[in-house]
Amino acid sequence: MTKFRRLTAVAALLGSVCASNAYAEGTVEVLHWWTSGGEAKAVGELKSAFESQGGMWIDSPIAGGGGDAAMTALRARVVAGNPPTAVQLKGPGIQEWATEGALNDVQAVAAAENWDSVLPPVLAEIMKYDGNYVAAPVNIHRVDWIWASPVALEKAGISEMPTTWAEFNAAAEKLEAAGLVALAHGGQPWQDATVFEDVVLGVGGPDFYRKALVELDADALTSDTMVAAFDQLRILRGFVDDGFSGRDWNLATSMVIRGEAGFQIMGDWAKGEFLAAGLVPGKDFYCIPTPGDGFVMNSDSFTFFKVAGDENLKGQQVLASLIMSPGFQKTFNLAKGSIPARTDVPLDDFDDCAKRSHEDLLKATEAGALVPSMAHEMAIPRSVRGEILDVVTTFFNSDMSSKDATAALAAAIQRAM
Ligand code: GAL
Repeated sequence: MTKFRRLTAVAALLGSVCASNAYAEGTVEVLHWWTSGGEAKAVGELKSAFESQGGMWIDSPIAGGGGDAAMTALRARVVAGNPPTAVQLKGPGIQEWATEGALNDVQAVAAAENWDSVLPPVLAEIMKYDGNYVAAPVNIHRVDWIWASPVALEKAGISEMPTTWAEFNAAAEKLEAAGLVALAHGGQPWQDATVFEDVVLGVGGPDFYRKALVELDADALTSDTMVAAFDQLRILRGFVDDGFSGRDWNLATSMVIRGEAGFQIMGDWAKGEFLAAGLVPGKDFYCIPTPGDGFVMNSDSFTFFKVAGDENLKGQQVLASLIMSPGFQKTFNLAKGSIPARTDVPLDDFDDCAKRSHEDLLKATEAGALVPSMAHEMAIPRSVRGEILDVVTTFFNSDMSSKDATAALAAAIQRAM
């Protein structure tokens, strides 16, 4: 072989090596907060589906349930001029980032695949900015659930799941009398707020919830109904064990899994933990909506930040399409505990908790009883949510009276507006 030929052969070889390093289906760096057992399993489905299409996935998990730490990390990345390609983001947060001009749209994919025809209109609106899709939803989580351990309930002589707050309180007292933890809880602001909003819905009903926690109506915030909601929260605080402070939500779920605690009030991402531990719904654990009418909705979605480079842009398009594919929506949600965001995915292979969630979602939509989660950033701007979380957490960790809490809530919201 002549020297020239040898050089050409080396160049060809190098060319093919480089080509195989460029991912035909693009690259994504994905920032998310899914680090618990069930969450990691669910996001693992997305990663392997993306990789099996020939894409390269760079994982950027930020631990911390509810996503507060992830949102801080995101802000720092954007300020540094180095945003991730895809970010788990939701509700008004999507609009806030879009208004800042930080997002790419995926309208071409959405139009080609006709997302409008398969998403509930209320969810589709949240995903759009200026009429164009800037986010793709993966699921619908229900926040107002009680999870229970049949073993613990049996030990305490409880034969029925509670359907009113009075029944819940009575059952919790029995669990305590049997030497068990009545309510597994982790003392973190977003967890306190999760329980709080479920109680607000249960005590006040959907219209009251909407007035107080979505419209931030001053009369609702300072009403006797809000005082009654704080009273019930105070009772629930009494059912929590001493070690609750700072505990992660999935560790609280583990207490129910092990039968050390009777109940946990948490969204259905908790079901992902029971399932990941190999437990069977209706047999090894129970689910029932928290008392009262309505449905507190939380939906996870991914947004696509402004990044340069064909490979990254390609990655965003491929990821958007994959997220919305019926097959992925099924596998992901079977692991995550939620139900698909798409309305046309059959639920035959889903369990009874998921089927109940779907039925109640339809009923609540019809009855005007579907409300967005305040705690999970579906309802109000992050800054105002932060003020509410501060008051709720202060109440939970002190002997503040319910009246003082309502006054503090109204004052805090006024400051934030
Ligand atoms: C929620 C999120 C869920 C869940 C939970 C706990 O805000 O929507 O997907 O994982 O936080 O981390």
